Amino acid sequence: MPPSNSVASSRPLKIALVSSEVAPFAKTGGLADVVAALARALHRAGHDVRVILPAYRMLRAVSFDAEVDRETPELELELPGDLCRIIARQAPLPNSERADGTPLAVTFLDCPRLWHRDNYYTDDADEPLRWAAFARAAIEYCQRTSWAPDVFHANDWHAALIPLLLRTRYAWDTLFRDTRTLLSIHNLGYQGVFPADAVELMGLSEARPLLHQDHLQAGHVSLLETGVLYADFLSTVSETYAREIQTPEHGMGMDELLRTRSDRLVGITNGIDAEEWNPAKDGYLAANYSADDLSGKRICRGALLDRFDLASDDDALVMGVVSRMTAQKGFELLPEILTVVLQRENVRLVVLGSGEQRYEAYFQWLRDTFPTRVGVYFGYNEELAHQIEAGADLFLMPSRYEPCGLNQMYSLAYGTVPLVRHTGGLADTVQRWDPTESSGTGFVFYDFTADALLATVGHALEVWREPAAWARLVQNGMAQDVSWEHRSEEYVRLYRHILKLPR
Ligand code: ADP
Ligand code: GLC
Repeated sequence: MPPSNSVASSRPLKIALVSSEVAPFAKTGGLADVVAALARALHRAGHDVRVILPAYRMLRAVSFDAEVDRETPELELELPGDLCRIIARQAPLPNSERADGTPLAVTFLDCPRLWHRDNYYTDDADEPLRWAAFARAAIEYCQRTSWAPDVFHANDWHAALIPLLLRTRYAWDTLFRDTRTLLSIHNLGYQGVFPADAVELMGLSEARPLLHQDHLQAGHVSLLETGVLYADFLSTVSETYAREIQTPEHGMGMDELLRTRSDRLVGITNGIDAEEWNPAKDGYLAANYSADDLSGKRICRGALLDRFDLASDDDALVMGVVSRMTAQKGFELLPEILTVVLQRENVRLVVLGSGEQRYEAYFQWLRDTFPTRVGVYFGYNEELAHQIEAGADLFLMPSRYEPCGLNQMYSLAYGTVPLVRHTGGLADTVQRWDPTESSGTGFVFYDFTADALLATVGHALEVWREPAAWARLVQNGMAQDVSWEHRSEEYVRLYRHILKLPR
C-alpha cells in the first residue's frame, strides 16, 4: 500500500483564485493574463478551480447565460448601514476546455452599486469599501455554495483582506477550518493605502487591534500590508523580485515587514499562455510563423509598418513598445535617447500604450517630428499588442523595476529580441547576448541611466547589422520554454506545501 501522504499529494486541489483582473474580461496589465493562464493550467490539470472577480460594467468578451443565471446564488452582504445584494454570475473562460470538453467557469460577482463604475479602480470615496466588499463577497460566495477551498489564492491588494477576514469575521465557520491562504504580490508599487477612517467604512472596526498599529496611528491603513501580515504564505512573480522586495531599494516601505516573513515568501516566475500568445496560431497576425520558418514574421513586420504608414526598409531596425506609460516602466529614459537614435540610425519605432499625460504628449511630439519613422497608438488594443510583438525586431523594456513582466516573454516567443534592464523578472527571463558563445536571448543594461540605455541600443544595432548573429539570437529566444505548464506545477507544489504548514 502506498503511504497515505502519497494519496494526499496527488489529490486534486480546490483553489479559489481571487483577482480584480482576469483576461480577457477585465485587464489593465499582466495580472489579468497571469490569473487566466494559471487558472487554465490548473483546471486542465484536473484541479477544482474557482476564479472570482467583480462583474464590472465594462467587462469584455462575456455574455451571461440567462438560463444559468437563474440558478446562480445570490448573496446578501451586510455593509455598514446597508444590505447589498450580489449575484454570482458564471461564464466560461475562453480556451480553457479540458480534454473532455469542460471549460472552466469564471464567477463574476455582480453588484452594480459597487462595481459598475467608469473604471475598475477609482478615486471615489468608497474605494476601500469596494475592495473590502469584494474580499467578503468572495468568501461568502464559497460559504453560500458550501465549497471549502484548500487555498484562497488572493492576488494583489484588491483581494488582500481575505486572510484577515478568515481569521476574524468568518473564523466561526468550520467550512474553512482547513483552508489556507496565499497572497501573491504582483506589484508592490500598488498597496491600497487609505486614510485610517476607512477601517470603519470597510466594516473592520472589530479587527482594528489586528491592523498595523503604528500605521493606524500615523493615519492610514494598507490593504496589501494587512494581507502580508496574515496570509499563510506569500508569493511574488519572479525569484529576483522576491529578493528585491526585501531590500529598502525595492521594498516600497514594506521591506522590513517582508523580511520578517521571508520564510513564508517565494518567487514563482510568470509564464506565458501558449494558447493566447503563439505566433504559429495567433489569429491577430497578417501571417503565422514558427522558429522553423520565419517568412511570416517578415509579412507581419511589413503589415505593422503599413498600418502606421511608416517607410518600409528591410535594413531598418523596427523597435516596439507595448506598455502602461508609468514611471515604473522606465519611460523617463526614453525621451533622453529616442531623438538621438532616430536622428542617427535607420530605425522605426511603434508604441502602444496609455497612461501619464506627459509621456503620451512626448510620443505624440515624436510621431509629429518623425512621421515616417514613428507610429503611436494611445489606448488599449489587444490586437495591436500582438501585431507589435510579431512585427517588431527589437522590443524595448527599460523598466525602473519589474516584478516579472510578460512582454519580454511574448517577445522571446515571437522571435522579437527583448532589450531590458536587469531588474526583477526581466533579469530572470532574459539572458545577455554573448557573441563569443552565441548564447543569450536579448540585450540587457544595468544602471538606470539614459547613457546605459543608449549604449545598449547601440549594441543592439551593431548585432542587427550582422544577420547571422541576429538570426541566432532570435532562435535562442524562440527556443526558451516560457510556458505555464511548469510554472503552474510550481504553484501546485506550493499549495500542497502550504496545506501542511501549521497556521
Ligand atoms: P504590467 O502588468 O506591469 O503592466 P506586464 O508586462 O506584466 O506589465 O503585462 C502587461 C500586459 O498588458 C501585457 O499582456 C501587454 O501586452 C498588455 N498591455 C499593456 N498595455 C497595453 C495596451 N495599451 N494595449 C494592449 N495591451 C496592453
Ligand atoms: C504586475 C507587474 C508585472 C507582472 C504582472 C503580472 O503588473 O508590474 O511585472 O508581470 O503584475 O504578475
